[in-house]
Amino acid sequence: MKALIATEKPFSPVAVKGIKEVFDAAGYETVLLEKYTEKQQLLEAVADADALIIRSDKVDAEVLDAAKQLKIVVRAGAGYDNIDLEAATAHKVVAMNTPGQNANSVAELVFGLLVYAKRNFFNGTSGTELKGKRLGILAFGNVGRNVARIAKGFEMEVLAYDAYCPAEVIKAAGVKAVASQDELFEQSDIVSLHIPATAETRESINRALVSKLPKGGILVNTARKEVINETELIELLNERTDLKYVTDIKPDADHKFAEFEGRYFTTPKKMGAQTAEANINAGIAAARQIVDFIENGVTKFQVNK
Ligand code: 3PG
Repeated sequence: MKALIATEKPFSPVAVKGIKEVFDAAGYETVLLEKYTEKQQLLEAVADADALIIRSDKVDAEVLDAAKQLKIVVRAGAGYDNIDLEAATAHKVVAMNTPGQNANSVAELVFGLLVYAKRNFFNGTSGTELKGKRLGILAFGNVGRNVARIAKGFEMEVLAYDAYCPAEVIKAAGVKAVASQDELFEQSDIVSLHIPATAETRESINRALVSKLPKGGILVNTARKEVINETELIELLNERTDLKYVTDIKPDADHKFAEFEGRYFTTPKKMGAQTAEANINAGIAAARQIVDFIENGVTKFQVNK
């Protein structure tokens, strides 16, 4: 069995070591393709791989065509919008993610971005504190729940909305459940996005919604750039100079956002899950899921049909 780790944005070395140990114990060969710059490199590397671990790396029909031996691809992380699920199914490849494994890492970064924004990007002027402010969490999945947990340590008032999570579950976590996205934006000083990129959410964070934030509101995006309607957000930031937008995902029109004082994005890579712990948790979970699938047919966490 040959297991390929293909990561344009590499895992920490300690995570790679841990993944390799899991594959060694199973008698699998580990092949590493890191920091690749051309798709061709991935196409060549997958040619004889039986299993594949990726991060935000794109696995489309072309990659699956090239991967003649592939049985399983695991996205070490939460969002699997980078895998063409239909093509995977057509190629009889099982696709999985590793839900929750990098959630704390992303949630901690939310607060890094928020403290930075609230202190006016450390420009020397007096900022404000998070304590007592209302934090709205859009989507109460693994990351959203971790954000809620940490927010309580800051003594924030926490609200959440999730179209797919019952209000009782949100309330049971000690969080105020609101009835809609609109209400969340109206009632929060800060909104943190934790929705996946799907056909339904694409560009759903638009002008009408963000403009509901009160004066001085902050939008923090550690989810996906695809959920933002960039054209409309840029228009709004031009008018509402009181608003701030902070994200760890470089927007497509980053040069236009650069004009705004109240914006910050980490460059050049998405940084939410870029910690040794998240890499270890997600990477090793991915390796174990591969071995469990190959050896025992376990399909828990499969995301394609
Ligand atoms: C995820 O979906 O798990 C996060 O966005 C992390 O993505 P990354 O592995 O590319 O950092």
